[in-house]
Amino acid sequence: MSKTRILTGITTTGTPHLGNYVGAIRPAIAASRHPGAESFYFLADYHALVKCDDPARIQQSTLEIAATWLACGLDPEKVVFYRQSDIPEIPELTWLLTCVTAKGLLNRAHAYKAATDANREKSEDPDAGITAGLYMYPVLMAADILIFNAHKVPVGRDQVQHIEMARDIGQRFNHLYGGEYFTLPEAAIEENVATLPGLDGRKMSKSYNNTIPLWLPEKELRNAILGIVTNSQVPGEPKNPDESHIFSIYQAFAGPVRSAAMRAAFKNGIAWGEAKQVLFNCINAELGPLRENFEKLIASPETIEDLLQAGASKARERTLPFIRKLRGAVGIRSLHTSSVASTVQSTAETVGQKAPRFVSYRENDKAYFKLIDSNGLVLLQSVPFDSQRDAGRVIAAIKQQMSLKTDGSGRVVMVETSVVAKLMDAIRPDVENALQRINALEASKKNASPAS
Ligand code: TRP
Repeated sequence: MSKTRILTGITTTGTPHLGNYVGAIRPAIAASRHPGAESFYFLADYHALVKCDDPARIQQSTLEIAATWLACGLDPEKVVFYRQSDIPEIPELTWLLTCVTAKGLLNRAHAYKAATDANREKSEDPDAGITAGLYMYPVLMAADILIFNAHKVPVGRDQVQHIEMARDIGQRFNHLYGGEYFTLPEAAIEENVATLPGLDGRKMSKSYNNTIPLWLPEKELRNAILGIVTNSQVPGEPKNPDESHIFSIYQAFAGPVRSAAMRAAFKNGIAWGEAKQVLFNCINAELGPLRENFEKLIASPETIEDLLQAGASKARERTLPFIRKLRGAVGIRSLHTSSVASTVQSTAETVGQKAPRFVSYRENDKAYFKLIDSNGLVLLQSVPFDSQRDAGRVIAAIKQQMSLKTDGSGRVVMVETSVVAKLMDAIRPDVENALQRINALEASKKNASPAS
């Protein structure tokens, strides 16, 4: 069974706050530990450009947000953690999708509509001050999701429309180009995740300017918590926990047992000052060790950059062959005769569903081979060889490899110390599967044919 692919993007503007931690970071990291899931987390820095034109802030926020997720326990060995702008296939797919996206669909996007409505209210031109970046935001987001064929996208309610648009756009591409190129994603809304109230009691949010930054030093965190507004009830007066921001924040950090005790303390008239102190102790106990991780990470941006680069390589093992396939689908293809032939062939083969196989051929006095899968996709394209015999020997050597030998990039196949072929519409597991099937088929043929 293939795993459920879960994908989330984090826009790199601003500094993470307690609300982000409780509402997004903590649950997402917990979800990334489920064995049945394959998780993709990325820093959406192209999306950040839609909202922010301050280069220093984009960079600083990228660093802080990457360090935050790592400090909170995201394991880059277990998930694919990368920066959107390190994956050139994403903007490339954005264009392919742009060309199948109905303009009317984008006109109906909530964020764009809100911006034009605000302009109309001021009797300005509806599009005044609106960039094409804001308008295209949903298409870029669709590309983020569709390039990995994600099944589930955990998002807040405000993003659900974007996921629906990604489905629409993916479906339209599939339909137009006649194939199941894209998996249609679904929004996953965490129902029982708390929304934290902010300092003023409204939902904690950058846009209300009522946040408590996640990585405040201990003393400042304490002061911020002591500064949360409360009513004027005096110590000893029974207080209603269900109307108290202090209590709802406490619940998001303390488990059910401690919350029940706090509920009782409210009924018994705990003083606000004391309740806030208990709240601070509880939050600080959880964040203290994470803050130490964060401070170490933020002091070592190179380490983070290296991790992101490693993540990008992992991600591109998928996106590179996939974009090649998509380019082929729309007709952006090599004019080289063998490529034209192989595309025509591949359509016919899809119907026939042949077994994967090696195909050898000659061209300009050189010998070549390809490995073709059952859908007619070219998995491997060989380098030129002097003779068919040389090519044949290399095919035999590849078939004998227990696990495919590649160079550091993972994009070329080696036999001993020579590069013998490039991976095309494939990632390593595709090639290994095809080789296994070829070997199994040959073994069964051998067994079936009577010994001569
Ligand atoms: N738009 C999302 C937000 O503001 C961030 C984002 C960008 C995203 N690309 C994504 C989320 C892809 C999920 C999947 O929160």
